[in-house]
Amino acid sequence: MCGIVGYVGQEQAAPILLEGLSKLEYRGYDSAGVAVYADQKGTLEVHKAKGRLQVLSDLLQGGASVHGCVGIGHTRWATHGAPSDVNSHPQVSRSGRIAVVHNGIIENYAELKAFLMEQGVPFTSETDTEVVAQLIEHFYDGDILQAVGRVLRRIEGAYALGILCADAPDQIIAVRKDSPLILGYGKDCSFLASDVTAIIRHTRDVVYMDDGEVAVLRRDGIQCYNHLMQPIEKEISHVDWEIDAAEKGGYEHFMFKEIMEQPEALRRCIFPRIRDGEVYLEDFALSEEYIRNIEKIYIVACGSSYHVGMVGKYNLERLTRKPVEVALASEFRYMDPIVSADTLVIVISQSGETLDTMAALREAKRLGATILSIVNVVGSSIARESDMVLYTWAGPEIAVATTKAYSTQMAVMDLLALYFARVLGTVAEEEYQAAIRELLLLPAKMETILADKDDIQYYASQYFNHNSVFFIGRNVDYAMGLEGSLKLKEISYIHSEAYASGELKHGTISLIESGTLVVALASYQKLFEKSMNNVVEVKSRGADVLALTTESRREEMGKVANAVIAIPDTHDLLLPSLGVVPLQLFAYYVALMRGCDIDKPRNLAKSVTVE
Ligand code: AGP
Repeated sequence: MCGIVGYVGQEQAAPILLEGLSKLEYRGYDSAGVAVYADQKGTLEVHKAKGRLQVLSDLLQGGASVHGCVGIGHTRWATHGAPSDVNSHPQVSRSGRIAVVHNGIIENYAELKAFLMEQGVPFTSETDTEVVAQLIEHFYDGDILQAVGRVLRRIEGAYALGILCADAPDQIIAVRKDSPLILGYGKDCSFLASDVTAIIRHTRDVVYMDDGEVAVLRRDGIQCYNHLMQPIEKEISHVDWEIDAAEKGGYEHFMFKEIMEQPEALRRCIFPRIRDGEVYLEDFALSEEYIRNIEKIYIVACGSSYHVGMVGKYNLERLTRKPVEVALASEFRYMDPIVSADTLVIVISQSGETLDTMAALREAKRLGATILSIVNVVGSSIARESDMVLYTWAGPEIAVATTKAYSTQMAVMDLLALYFARVLGTVAEEEYQAAIRELLLLPAKMETILADKDDIQYYASQYFNHNSVFFIGRNVDYAMGLEGSLKLKEISYIHSEAYASGELKHGTISLIESGTLVVALASYQKLFEKSMNNVVEVKSRGADVLALTTESRREEMGKVANAVIAIPDTHDLLLPSLGVVPLQLFAYYVALMRGCDIDKPRNLAKSVTVE
């Protein structure tokens, strides 16, 4: 999704903007641009280029050819208007004296554009963002802040904006509504960014802007305003993760680095929450009485986070005997959900900014539910709008394909299920203790899987030429298959489907023919025999079966499958946490062998802030 960076200080702005934008590349984009106040000429200098950031950087000699110490930069992910130089941001007003970078969508742009065109304003791009730049100029009479305020009263939709005005060369105006924007406080300089990774090299002191807020950034400080344009004080947060966490650190791809980081991420996520054999959840405001009275739990999320919810449903229902429904966030708000004050809505999101998930959260809140979110990015919108947050502590995740965030979300779901079950008395002491023991062993068991990654690489070399893959499984194995299938298709572009094994015979099995690759997931012990039957079923139709099961079942499975990947045995609750790792590695190696752009797959963005 689009990325914004801004800088006001004493150093040359363009190199800082380009470096900041390079840290936001992971979000997904198709063009880039910068606008810098050219102090010698009293004008705004704007440079834009379709394609990779490197194209722009080469054009500007890494920024060295653009002078000036105040500027804004942008990586664009096209929504209104195809990727092109002219549609790239910054968008400028007709006089060229207002420049705007924007993340989000101006929903009423067509109406505003028509109004401006009636006034004789010419448009050069197809973007909704140009409307903002032109409208600011339309209202501008010497007071840029006032003009921005008037525009904000007219535009609808989601937006994070960075605005430069040639007449106010010492400042940037920032605006936020439903799209993330962070302010950074440096020494004799200020920053603006879509996320912390863009500015962490320069400052760790940040302010997370809230919806409706406006900020004026100057070299000597930042003034924030509320939606009524009254000055406000904001609390400065200190970012405590290391810069290395957002760098590749010798790995070829962020995705691989993040796969390998999972054991450490799990230790950070799990260990502080288990003390003396008990689960402790920090900042957890749900009383025991509330937990007992929960009538229904909804889990709402998108993509991989939704897949965590699928596993979470099986585990929560099994341990707590409370009914759990999992909903795609993009469907939730349009399905007239049955939600009351006794409904707990668990929202899962790595970025904490996914627009569909945020909209679902707001709808659930409006209907009176209590919102508990499981989020990775500290201070993100979803975290701030929830009644309670359990952070996953996975550290920054840069690759578009989520891995360590998925694993830590799952761990938090497990901790939550155990915590609820303890309160409700629905789990036997022995099982509770066994699950806790296994949770503590999870990182080490995952390390043994990662140590055998060459085996997975070998299987990838056998199968990377397939054009269609089926993942089959029952119960949590089915939920795990959904994630394995998504990982494979998003980074390797191979068509793949995940099916509940028992459902195959109702239609899909007609697609199985000689040589079709079926990844059969059979880690769930209670249904192992049935899963074996499904392997036999597809094999007898000619499928090539790569099976995944536990060490204790390796031999048995080896008798029917063509190849077997075995994960360490563990508590049932945790099987998907281990089982997903070979699937992540498989997708990674297949994509590598197919020469795909692993960290930035086509058409995808890390954080999806449009509906
Ligand atoms: C998974 O690899 C994807 N990048 C995607 O499905 C992602 O999980 C989804 O967009 C939800 O994102 P979120 O967790 O940041 O809300």
